[in-house]
Amino acid sequence: MNDPIILSIETSCDETAVCILQGKNKILSNIVLSQIDIHKVFGGVVPEIAARKHIKFLNNITKEAVKEAKIELKDINAIAVTKGPGLVGALLIGLNFAKALSLNLNIPLIGVNHLMGHIYANFLSSPDLKPPFVTLLVSGGHTMILDTKDYMDFEIVGQTKDDAAGEAFDKVARMLELGYPGGPIIDKLAKVGKKIYKFPKPLFNKGYDFSFSGLKTSVLYFKKDNPEAKIEDIAASFQESLVSTLIHKTVKYAKINNRKKIVIAGGVAANSTLREKLNDYKEFDIYLPEMKYCTDNAAMIARAGYEKYIRNDFSDFDLDAIPNLALKEL
Ligand code: KG4
Ligand code: ZN
Repeated sequence: MNDPIILSIETSCDETAVCILQGKNKILSNIVLSQIDIHKVFGGVVPEIAARKHIKFLNNITKEAVKEAKIELKDINAIAVTKGPGLVGALLIGLNFAKALSLNLNIPLIGVNHLMGHIYANFLSSPDLKPPFVTLLVSGGHTMILDTKDYMDFEIVGQTKDDAAGEAFDKVARMLELGYPGGPIIDKLAKVGKKIYKFPKPLFNKGYDFSFSGLKTSVLYFKKDNPEAKIEDIAASFQESLVSTLIHKTVKYAKINNRKKIVIAGGVAANSTLREKLNDYKEFDIYLPEMKYCTDNAAMIARAGYEKYIRNDFSDFDLDAIPNLALKEL
C-alpha cells in the first residue's frame, strides 16, 4: 500500500485547522487559525461566533493547505474530521465541509474523536512510541488518567469530578482579571512568582479522580481576603497545587501498575511547570507532544484518522456531531 494522504479538519472549538498528512508521520501542511483574539474580548469562547468564523475561514484554509502540501485534491485518499466532543455548531461546520469533500472526491470519510486526537499527537512527536502507556489527558474540557493498553484501547482510570485542569486555569485567570485563555497567562506569570501560598490539593491521596473546583474557589477567597498579595505569587502557588496533583496521581498509577511510559496530552501539556517537573521522574520514559501539537490542531486528527484508515474504519454519511462524545466511542 502506498502511503495514504489524509486531509483532516478540526473545528471543535475556537481553532479552525486543516492538515495534510502522508502516511504515519509526514506532515505536508498544517494550518491552525486561532480565533482567540476574536473571543477574548468576551472572556471566553462564544459558540455562535466560533461556528460563523469556521464557515468564513475553512474554505480558504483548506485551499491553502492543499497548495502548501504541493498536491492536488485528487491525490487525497481520505478525509478525517473531528466528530466530538466539542461545540455542536462548530463541529457541524467541519463535519459538513468534510462530507462535501469526501462526496465530491469519492473518498472515505473518517470521524475522529477529538480526545483520541490529543493522545495521538504524541505519535507525531515521538514516532517510536508504542502502547502500553499511562496517559494524562489534560485539556480545557477534560482531565483523565488513562491506561492505554493498545492503539485503540483507552481505559479511564480516573477523571475530574468537576472542572477540567484547563478550565480551572481559565476560571482562575478570569477571577484574577488576567484575560483568556488563562493557561498560558498563568504559566507566564508563575515564572516570575513565588510558590509561597498553600492552596488545597483536592483528593491528593484519594484514588485517581480529580476535583479542581474547590481549589479555584479557595484562590477566589484568598484574593478577596489578601488584596495586597502579588498576582504572580498567587498564580505560581495555584499552578503548583494543580500541577503537583496531576503528576502525583499519574505517577502513582504508573508505579503501582508497573508501567514505564507516561504520555501527556491536551492543551495543558503546554504548561512549562508540568513539563519541567516531569523531568524529575527519571524512572519513567516521559512523552510530551511538541508545543504546536498540545493545543487544538488538525495534525493530531489526521494521525488518529490514519490509525482508523489502516483498519478500514470509515464513517457513514449520517455521521453526526456529538458534543459530549465519550472517549470509548472511537
Ligand atoms: O486541548 P485544548 O486546546 O482544547 C480543548 O480540547 O479543551 O486545551 C485548551 C486548554 C485551555 O483551558 C488553556 O487554558 C489550556 O489548555 N492551556 C494551558 C496552557 N496552554 C493552554 N494550561 C496551562 N498552561 C499552559 N501553558
Ligand atoms: Zn482539544
